[in-house]
Amino acid sequence: MKTPVDIAVTGAAGQISYSLLFHLASGELLGLDQPIVLRLLEIPPAMKQLQGVVMELNDCAFPLINKIIITDDPKVAFDNVDYAFLVGAKPRGPGMLRSDLLLDNAQIFITQGRALNEVANRNVKVLVTGNPANTNALIAIHNAPDLAPECFTAMTMLDHKRAISQVAEKCGVLSRDVKNVAVWGNHSCTQYPDLHHAKVKGMDVLSLVEQSWFVDEFIPTVQYRGTEIIKVRGQSSAASAAHAAIEHMRVWAFGTDQGDWVSMAVASDGSYGVEEGLVYSFPVTVVDGQIGIVKGLDLNEFSLARLRQNEVELKEERQAIKHLL
Ligand code: NAI
Repeated sequence: MKTPVDIAVTGAAGQISYSLLFHLASGELLGLDQPIVLRLLEIPPAMKQLQGVVMELNDCAFPLINKIIITDDPKVAFDNVDYAFLVGAKPRGPGMLRSDLLLDNAQIFITQGRALNEVANRNVKVLVTGNPANTNALIAIHNAPDLAPECFTAMTMLDHKRAISQVAEKCGVLSRDVKNVAVWGNHSCTQYPDLHHAKVKGMDVLSLVEQSWFVDEFIPTVQYRGTEIIKVRGQSSAASAAHAAIEHMRVWAFGTDQGDWVSMAVASDGSYGVEEGLVYSFPVTVVDGQIGIVKGLDLNEFSLARLRQNEVELKEERQAIKHLL
């Protein structure tokens, strides 16, 4: 049997984790021959609920689980971890301002960034899912000076999958026939799901669908899908978010498919004029665990305007927490 791999999950008693943990335990991330240690972080008031989740995990008798550690101390949770799913965040309460949400969550990601800096594996792969995900990742990067910024990403994989699914439905094909969709910018309603390079069975998607569908239906459907799910299901997306989180990490670990890419929010290297350092979603490929922003894509005025809008929004978020960086 291989040496166990340590995986941390924060917000482990929450909705997303209730799905994520069982998928991780069944080997969906690293395969059926890779034992894992789950290191689960929660805040003290949620510890009892977390114990209940662990009882259920134990009751599954997953053969790949070596050990489950539960803690409210980030340094214990991140000790020598190879993968860190930062799911836990404070939800926006009634009447709460977005700036307050940013500040409350900033505190969480300052603490967790510092703990990762101190105790995580130097090649740790960190995925920030908790919102505002891009800016939370930015904060974590700034608080982990001894880890490369490349260790940190934020999740736009759910948006990427939502975009694929909309195209597949519109074109009457399977999801696997849809390639090269891109989600640019912030994981917020400003995000830009882009079909200018997308293909269905080798054909340009934009030659198969009406421009009005792309602009007036597809883009807002993907942008507001999370809000729509809450309206219909009565709760925010959880199983689909957990699935996207696993997909994100799996692609990071094993690479992108030949000829295709995925969307991930990463620290910008200045590509497409996006200010260096901002955590921004780009189309990326992954080879040998290294994430590379896809370069040289032609962007028309329509696309460029949306890229800029996202950059402005992310700079505003950064401004709100600037004193903490
Ligand atoms: P939830 O509210 O059910 O669970 C969050 C959990 O985090 C709670 O159990 C809470 O106790 C815990 N938590 C809070 N502060 C913590 C801390 N300092 N350390 C450890 N745990 C902490 O929320 P849910 O539905 O699981 O969503 C989690 C986050 O993911 C939210 O911020 C949500 O907006 C975000 N999200 C992001 C998506 C994306 O595509 N990037 C998609 C869907 C959700």
